[in-house]
Amino acid sequence: PGAPAPVICIDGPTASGKGTVATLVAQRLGFALLDSGALYRIAGLAASRAGIALQADQADRIAALIATLHIVFAPDQRVLLNGEDISLAIRTEEAGMNASRVSAFPAVRQALLQWQRDFRRLPGLVADGRDMGTVIFPDAPLKVFLSASAECRAQRRFKQLIDKGLSANMHDLLADLQARDARDTQRSASPLQPAEDALHWDNNAERTVEQAVQQVLSWWQQRQPFA
Ligand code: DC
Repeated sequence: PGAPAPVICIDGPTASGKGTVATLVAQRLGFALLDSGALYRIAGLAASRAGIALQADQADRIAALIATLHIVFAPDQRVLLNGEDISLAIRTEEAGMNASRVSAFPAVRQALLQWQRDFRRLPGLVADGRDMGTVIFPDAPLKVFLSASAECRAQRRFKQLIDKGLSANMHDLLADLQARDARDTQRSASPLQPAEDALHWDNNAERTVEQAVQQVLSWWQQRQPFA
């Protein structure tokens, strides 16, 4: 077997813009895309629909449930859970908070581990999340860590929700985001932290999506001296 397919990891906190940047980088390079947050969102949604409390003593039940789910990521960006279109349902703030809750349980992270690695394929994969570079693809040739202030990220999330026709309130968004930051960085199972070999990009309000995309593509080219 040859070298494994290359992976570009894009990690960072909630609403740092990693999803947008990852999607565009994947498009430009013709790579596959893994939105790992979507898997945690699906797990949270499926568990709450099944009436399972999202608490640590239920983690094994949630992990067992994950193994039974039939998920399709359609080419048109839709996400299907057992045939039902849940694309919007997993994007609400509540779904994000539920995802953050179940993501703290090691059994849930374990249940999603191989599934994430199975996204790796030629010619390459762009993976966005919290632990892509630290845990899921530690051998990835390029790891990027995006950051931005909580205020800037709350603004961005506000705009995303309004654009999708969902309702939003800045004050609640900022509070939610700080709660999720705290949980995502302080949990003991794969907390949000930059990989030691990650390259950092401050994705603040003055910087455009295109600048971030160009930076990642240029880092990628530097990693490909013979391409
Ligand atoms: O990126 P996102 O907002 O869709 O992620 C939702 C939650 O899922 C996030 O608050 C923490 C969790 N998550 C995680 O723990 N590890 C990942 N690789 C991706 C997401």
